[in-house]
Amino acid sequence: MSQPTELPQPAERVQQRRRYLMCRPEFFTVSYSINPWMDPNEPTDTSNAVRQWQTLYDAYITLGHEVELIEPQPGLPDMVYTANGGFVIDGVAYPPKFRYQERAGEERWFTEWFRDNGFEVAGPDETNEGEGDFLLAGDVILAGRGFRSDGASHRELERIYGREVVSLTLVDPRFYHLDTALSILDPVVEPGATPTIAYLPHAFDEESQRILAERFPDAIHVSDEDGAVFGLNSASDGKNVFISPRAKGFEKQLAERGYTPVLIDLSELLLGGGGIKCCTLELRSAK
Ligand code: ARG
Repeated sequence: MSQPTELPQPAERVQQRRRYLMCRPEFFTVSYSINPWMDPNEPTDTSNAVRQWQTLYDAYITLGHEVELIEPQPGLPDMVYTANGGFVIDGVAYPPKFRYQERAGEERWFTEWFRDNGFEVAGPDETNEGEGDFLLAGDVILAGRGFRSDGASHRELERIYGREVVSLTLVDPRFYHLDTALSILDPVVEPGATPTIAYLPHAFDEESQRILAERFPDAIHVSDEDGAVFGLNSASDGKNVFISPRAKGFEKQLAERGYTPVLIDLSELLLGGGGIKCCTLELRSAK
């Protein structure tokens, strides 16, 4: 008689309360193209963008997170993607210096918001697009380059925060920000511990793939199919992972690892080349 085999139990995931900055897409449209997803000839529906964005906002609030809002500005349709509005650790905000002129007008609004809300502002001297390209992974900062943020901004980050910065090179124009190709699933871990991450290996050059494999041997590798619907452009509180409903394989992989996928459809905002993570800036306050 065969023994019933015991299935491996997924790890117990613990939710961490997060504080986010978002911007209601009241002026959202696609009037220029600065990434392969944006086609100004394709119609956009601003009220649909607002409706979809609201479902993300509501999900964060329902699950106990705090969401701050920055006032949207006319003529700055990409301001909804607040992940590009800065990078914040320990109450210190590093504002963006955008690659393209089309978004440069956002810089002063984000900088002002940080100042008005009690954050210390440091830099920037170098071209960088905030949390779109910088992700905190335990003690280290993973930093993307290749399309938007400059390698020099990685060094500036290192000086400002006194943390190790690991540079990763993006090679596929569809995945032009780090947060479109890599996701941190545990926003807070014990000092010295490594969080679980998920990524799309071939969005990176070979050297970066090697670094990721070495540092994150337990990472989830996402399929091209799920990457291509911005499955990795997700937010996680350590238990709930907010993802696109179209990333079917990733949804399954997350559940197998004990996470709870929360499906949020931001198809309208994908017309601007952004998703859930792009609309979410994490505010890590001073302790
Ligand atoms: N249209 C915006 C741009 O190209 C989208 C930004 C997406 N943000 C992100 N964090 N990936 O700049």
